[in-house]
Amino acid sequence: MISKQQTLFERIGGDQAITELIHKFYDRVVADPELKPFFKNASMEKIRRMQREFFSAALDGPITYTGKPLGYVHHGRGITKHHFALYVGHLIQALEKININDQDVQDIISRINTYADEITGTAGSMG
Ligand code: HEM
Repeated sequence: MISKQQTLFERIGGDQAITELIHKFYDRVVADPELKPFFKNASMEKIRRMQREFFSAALDGPITYTGKPLGYVHHGRGITKHHFALYVGHLIQALEKININDQDVQDIISRINTYADEITGTAGSMG
């Protein structure tokens, strides 16, 4: 019998798990003294909603991201590779709190790392 390969979205527990993950993750992000200032004028409700879509889509789930392109949203905010690394560190910590194996954690982080240049605006950014 051919076993169908589950998507990362399914393996981590679908929509409910993603929603929980985003909550845990952003609680950590906004508690980080180096990241907190970036979010002082942001609507956390909107970010959480958009992140739910974005992560679901990025992990091959059946949800479409309806937000603006990531480069556009993050451009000109002064987000550096250092901030990006802190952000991903919080994502790893949040992922470790949900019940998924190390390989899936690594797969998710590799996907998210592919957005680093877009977020930090490496092409021509002042940092
Ligand atoms: C791969 C990493 C990241 C992803 C996938 C991501 C994704 C997103 C998404 C989907 C939104 C909502 C877009 C919309 O409103 O249409 C958003 C907004 C935002 N992100 Fe990120 N982000 C990442 C990294 C970061 C980092 C490292 C920072 C800061 C250190 C950051 C700061 C912000 C801020 C401040 C907003 C709010 C923009 C506003 O005022 O509406 N993001 N991000």
